[in-house]
Amino acid sequence: MARRWINDLTRNDITPYPAYLNRRQLIAGMAGGAGAAALGSIAGPAHAETLEPNSWDDITSYNNFYEFGTGKSDPKEYAHLMSTSPWSVEIDGLVDRPGTYSFDDIMSNMTIEERIYRFRCVEAWSMIIPWNGFELSDLLAMAGVQDGARYVAFQTLYRPDEMPGTRYPVLDWPYVEGLRMDEAMNPLTIMATGIYGKPIPNQNGAPLRLVVPWKYGYKSIKSIVKISLVADEPPTSWNEANPREYGFYSNVNPNVSHPRWSQASERVIGGGLFAKREPTLMFNGYEKEVASMYEGMDLEKYH
Ligand code: MTE
Repeated sequence: MARRWINDLTRNDITPYPAYLNRRQLIAGMAGGAGAAALGSIAGPAHAETLEPNSWDDITSYNNFYEFGTGKSDPKEYAHLMSTSPWSVEIDGLVDRPGTYSFDDIMSNMTIEERIYRFRCVEAWSMIIPWNGFELSDLLAMAGVQDGARYVAFQTLYRPDEMPGTRYPVLDWPYVEGLRMDEAMNPLTIMATGIYGKPIPNQNGAPLRLVVPWKYGYKSIKSIVKISLVADEPPTSWNEANPREYGFYSNVNPNVSHPRWSQASERVIGGGLFAKREPTLMFNGYEKEVASMYEGMDLEKYH
């Protein structure tokens, strides 16, 4: 499938990773042998030339995945308990072809490519991550979006036996998220299946997680088992838990503070003990690509 953009980042911009030499093979493997590993490398043009991904270690050992506990190292410690094979995603609601899609089926129909994106958590830390994945719009097209669909609702696996963190009512399990249809169809929005050319580790949301680079990280719902196309704005876990602090939109915005902290700057993970803080960019640096979707909207009210 023809990709829509050419990118100003080259492979040389990526931090070397030992297994990186094998990545063509790895990615071809991930694509279920479909040979669909057409690799394009895409990042938001804003500051793209300076994007240098974090290390594998940063990305896979400093995580939020509350189903395994609320500590940053809990996901790495416990996420291996989650079984991800076989895996399937139920797609239902306002679609022409509702049903249960196996992960392998999905992979053999999608084109896997690489996207190097900024990743900004609402807790004011950030990383730069080399994802592998496909555009969400391609998956939705596979199911056939019907006219009345205005939002997309997502749900994470909920398997208490394999998820020790779900014993605690930190959130109302299962974890759920949502996007407006135009956000879901935006070419920046991907379903990630890999990091650094390797299958996505459990702690990062194996085998399939959402990535919406201009929104706070909690929108990037992990280990997705269900996608529903709906007419009305769906509930989202963090908004249900605390609507004042976490809105439905959750667009990265340095000018709208979290009620308990400023969002004007962020701690860059991987910078060592004296990690520098950097100014947070409007829409996380993807303003040119996404601002038009919110024209005329009060971004404080619809935070
Ligand atoms: N998805 C699920 N199911 N459970 C979670 O706790 N945490 C979110 C998001 N997706 C979370 C989730 C938050 S707050 C962030 S910042 C990112 O995942 C973290 O992604 P990472 O661990 O890959 O950096």
